[in-house]
Amino acid sequence: MPTPTLLDRRLVVVTGKGGVGKSTVSAALAVLAARAGKRVLVCEVNARERIAPLLGAPPAGSSVREARPGLFTLNVTPHEAMREYGIMVLKFRTIYDAVFENRLVRHFLRVIPSLAELVTLGKILFEAKSEERGRPRWDVVIVDAPATGHAVQLLRVPSALLDTVPAGPLRGDAEWMQALLLDPVRTALAIVTLPEEMPVNEAIELDAQVRNELGIPRAALFVNAMPEVRFTHEEETRLESLVGAPPPLGPAATAARLQALRAEQAQRYLARARAALDLPTTVLPLLPVAEWGAEAVERIADAIAAAPPQGAP
Ligand SMILES: Nc1ncnc2c1ncn2[C@@H]1O[C@H](COP(=O)(O)OP(=O)(O)OP(=O)(O)O)[C@@H](O)[C@H]1O
Ligand SMILES: [Mg+2]
Repeated sequence: MPTPTLLDRRLVVVTGKGGVGKSTVSAALAVLAARAGKRVLVCEVNARERIAPLLGAPPAGSSVREARPGLFTLNVTPHEAMREYGIMVLKFRTIYDAVFENRLVRHFLRVIPSLAELVTLGKILFEAKSEERGRPRWDVVIVDAPATGHAVQLLRVPSALLDTVPAGPLRGDAEWMQALLLDPVRTALAIVTLPEEMPVNEAIELDAQVRNELGIPRAALFVNAMPEVRFTHEEETRLESLVGAPPPLGPAATAARLQALRAEQAQRYLARARAALDLPTTVLPLLPVAEWGAEAVERIADAIAAAPPQGAP
């Protein structure tokens, strides 16, 4: 079952089109990891903070906070990451201040376009590889990554640096970051999509970029918000004949037919995503929930745990 395999990695990167359920899946995976007794950190990237609320905890800001036992959150903003990374790398704040707060240096840093991505990714990957008393600090770091294009931009930074930067500390950082990102034992990338045309198209393009450009080990596909197949073919035919009936039957039949149509389309997009991505696939239900929050995330976690992913290993 690939989900435990997914959560056996040290670093799990979750991405997909905007609004498809990346934060929900990240939070649900974190819940599952914590339920399995793992010490887990969920990182979101320069976002309006979403993960802590989805776990029923107050917003945590840009430092590591425990949302519930064993489950920690961190919102990584480039500004904070820049400062911390500088301090981490340069060890002493005085040196940091002398270097990073220097006007000339700051100007120089602004003209390196990928610096914000570098420090953001650096901060996350540093967490993923950090150890305390000879043991990994986190059993798993889950990254609620930005949507497709931005995620690719973020994840491509180490290899871009390796292509351009000469030997030195920056290159050294790019090297360990890239080694971690490409390591199939420690790292996995999960793609989230909705069973709809545009999200599936984008998932297919993203997957191609991951395979051809980034080289990060792909491990899972989550097809989120899948409408239930409620009616048999026979029932659908009967619904059709009821559409013209007086209310409430007629309008109810119309609504039911629309649901049936959407469920049928969703099945087609699911099949398309499965065929194109060829990844272990977990289908998550469309939940009729008015307010999306911790309760919904718990149900999505249950759904992931209950449904062994189907498809390629
Ligand atoms: N399985 C589901 N059933 C019903 N609604 C869902 C489901 N998953 C997500 N949603 C709805 O979609 C919204 C967006 O989900 P989420 O925030 O997880 O997506 P995202 O990909 O992280 O979005 P963004 O790109 O803005 O970060 C949720 O607030 C919720 O209203
Ligand atoms: Mg999100």
